[in-house]
Amino acid sequence: MIVWTEQAYGTGVPEIDAQHRELFDRVNAVVGMSENGHDVQELERTLDYLARYVVEHFVFEEAWMAEHNCPGQEANTAGHTRFVSRLTSFQHRFPHEGETSDYQGELSRFLTRWLSNHVEVIDVQNMKQPATA
Ligand SMILES: [Fe+2]
Ligand SMILES: [Fe+2]
Repeated sequence: MIVWTEQAYGTGVPEIDAQHRELFDRVNAVVGMSENGHDVQELERTLDYLARYVVEHFVFEEAWMAEHNCPGQEANTAGHTRFVSRLTSFQHRFPHEGETSDYQGELSRFLTRWLSNHVEVIDVQNMKQPATA
């Protein structure tokens, strides 16, 4: 479970912050379903829903950073590409392993760590506008 806070994760860009909050909610939904032994088909649908939403967010964010000449765009895009490929591999494994607690634990740890780390270290650093005196 990850909690969005302005202090740790605020970028100063309202649309991006709203998308990040939505992503946090969707990751938490996957984690919550894993922990509570939810219906496995519902877990798979929730994971697929997260995967679609994250791509929309990445497209929006990459365009925003390009438009605003943000530093670190390559690191951001590379991080997104790696995340999508890891997530795709989790989706491919789902039919065989999705109901195991090993898989669900690994998926939950990956999602929460990646999202909190990427937003805090890459997104915030690249987008936060320097305060003008
Ligand atoms: Fe982001
Ligand atoms: Fe990003």
